[in-house]
This record gives sequence, structure tokens and C-alpha cells, in this order.
Amino acid sequence: MVNSKIAGIGYYVPEKEVTNDDLAQYMETSDAWIQERTGIKSRRYAEKHKETTTTMGARAAEKAIEDAGIAKEEIDFIIFATLSPDYYFPGCGVLVQRELGISNLEMGALDIRNQCSGFIYGLSVADKFVKSGQYKNVLLIGSEMHSMGIDFSTKGRNVTVIFGDGAGAVVLQPEKDLNKGILTTHLHSDGRDAEELSFISPGSHGGYHDKEGFEDFGFVDPDVPGEIFITEKIAKDGTYPYMNGPAVFKKAVKKFPEVIMTALKTKGYDTKDIDMLIPHQANLRISQFVAKTLGLGPNQVHNNIQKYGNTTAASVPIALAEAIELGKIKDNDLVCLAAFGSGFTWGSALIRW
Ligand code: COA
Repeated sequence: MVNSKIAGIGYYVPEKEVTNDDLAQYMETSDAWIQERTGIKSRRYAEKHKETTTTMGARAAEKAIEDAGIAKEEIDFIIFATLSPDYYFPGCGVLVQRELGISNLEMGALDIRNQCSGFIYGLSVADKFVKSGQYKNVLLIGSEMHSMGIDFSTKGRNVTVIFGDGAGAVVLQPEKDLNKGILTTHLHSDGRDAEELSFISPGSHGGYHDKEGFEDFGFVDPDVPGEIFITEKIAKDGTYPYMNGPAVFKKAVKKFPEVIMTALKTKGYDTKDIDMLIPHQANLRISQFVAKTLGLGPNQVHNNIQKYGNTTAASVPIALAEAIELGKIKDNDLVCLAAFGSGFTWGSALIRW
């Protein structure tokens, strides 16, 4: 039996910085409102038609592979987490295999659709593959290009000001010391409020939506096949994510501390033992609330949403890589990763670095 460990890590954020004042040119909002409610000062946007979720993921992966000191040909499995894939299908796993120019054409590639907790879900899956001895070098990527799919009118402002583009990646390898590496992971879901943070069209529901209080996206003609993806409403108004901000906030501040405590208790630790918590960068107010609830000091938590916004599946690996870069994580530190998001799904991982 072995543990798995993060043997290499890397991140990529696009060059283009978009400030709150930049967004105020498109919608009714202000720098003061955004900073007060979310802590975000700016975010990055990928270069349209040149970059995609896959290309950003590949740039982060190249750094992780180099950091792990292996050749890309040694990767034996890819896991790709995103909610903003290049295509409806196939998923970004195979696209990044191609983008990286990996010549092993019989490796596996898996796509994960768990939104903000996608990276933690992916980490848990990768951990099991390594622990079981099936794979020796698993490449896990979280990447998002939100800027192509959000509403820049005032109607979409509560969602649009929060999200940014970017990618993070890790390489997982076996760790012989069972007291080191990934110690435990915990994954949870509650689908009852699936639409509270969602991007429902296009989809096989065909435009139908019966949840009270939600906008009717229009019906397809049941007698005409092949209309699933283009309802009249979508053609006219576009299709965008929906978020019930206050509902997400309330659930997040409850589930984050719960799932962090589950991980700690499973291994006999308490909050004082955490050297570094990397929370999914949902909203700075959420991270601050969680830190306060758990009694964590500023040196025990790393946040960078201020400059990158919420990069969904990419936020944990970007923040983790940055914390390492800044020297905030040292050998033998106890590192906790935690995320909450659409689904709702949430999860945590405890790592002895
Ligand atoms: N700029 C200015 N005003 C805005 C705005 C924006 N970008 N977005 C919303 N508003 C307005 C609303 O229209 C509303 O106006 P009204 O009172 O005239 O109706 C007012 O601000 C309050 O809206 P509300 O949604 O209640 O605000 P809030 O205090 O809950 O803050 C969020 C909104 C989105 C910042 C907050 O709910 C949040 O962060 N939720 C969690 C979101 C999150 O983390 N998502 C990712 C999960 S992984």
C-alpha cells in the first residue's frame, strides 16, 4: 500500500487583466460594490479565439510536469475538471492529451463535471488510482474560461463580476511514507437545489424548466426532432449561468467548515494543526467567514481571489501553487484543501506536504 503525493504543480493565468472599473463599462456596477461584497479587485480573461480551457490547462500542465521532473510521456492518466469545456463533447481530457502532444495513445483521460469542487473530486479519484497501484503519474487539471460564457449586461452582473479565467494542474505520484502525501479526501453532494447555481441550457431538458421562480427558457416543439439545443429563447437572448447568490453564500459558509472538520477529525487533528488552508476562491467574504468560524489566523489561510476572481475548478490548484511559490507551504506542513459549489457538491482533502 502507498499514499499518493503532489509531486509537481503549476498554474497559468492569461495576461489580460480586467478590473472592476472595466466591467462597469458594460453593466451597472461599481468597484466599491464588487470589492465590498466579494473582495475581488480584478480577474484575468483569456484571449478569445486563441486560448481555450484546454490550451490554458495545457500550459499549467506543462509546468506541473516539469515541476514533477518527469517527461510528458510518463503520464499514464489524465483527469480534467471544468465547467467551461471547449466542446459539449468530447471532453477536455482528450483535447489536452492532444495539445500536450503526448504520444502514448492508449492512456486514459477522464472528464470531471463538479464545478467549483471539481479539483477536489479529481484529486480524490487520482489518489485512488495511485494508491491502488494502477497508475504512477496522474495528471490532474482544473481549468476554466468563463469569459466566453457570461452575460456582460446588467442582468448578469451578480454572476459576471465574480468569475475569472485560469488553470492549475498537479501530477500525483506514489508516496511510500504513509504519514505523508494525501491523507484523506471527502466528497459530498446534495442535488435538491441543483438549479440554484447552474447553466441549464443547452441541454436535453429541451428548454423546459419548471422550478418556481426560475425563468422559463422556452419549449422546443415536441414533434420536431433535433431542437434540443436551440430554443427560440436561447437564439434571441443567449444562454447564461444562473446563480442565487444569497442561497449559495448561506450553504457555502455551513458546508466549508463541516467538510474541513470532517477531514481533520478523520485523521485525529484539530484546526490548530492546520498549517495552510486553501479554500476554493468562491468569494473572499465566504473564505473570511469560514476562517472566523474555525478560528484560523491569517497565516493559516491563503486567498488570492482579489486578483484572479473565482476560477471555479482552477481556483484551488492556482491558490495552492501560488502559496508554494510564496514560501507559505513547507515540507511536512499539514495542508487542507476545501471546496463548495454548484450541485451542490463539496469536498476536502488533507495533505501532509
Ligand atoms: N453590482 C451592483 N449591484 C449588484 C451586483 C453587481 N455586480 N450584483 C447584484 N447587485 C444588486 C442586486 O441587483 C440587488 O439589488 P436590489 O437590492 O436593488 O434588488 C443587490 O445588489 C443585492 O443583491 P443580492 O444578490 O442580495 O446581494 P448579496 O449581498 O447576496 O451579494 C453576491 C451578491 C453574488 C456577491 C453574494 O450573494 C455571493 O457572493 N454569493 C455567493 C456567490 C458565490 O460564491 N458563488 C460561487 C460559488 S462557488
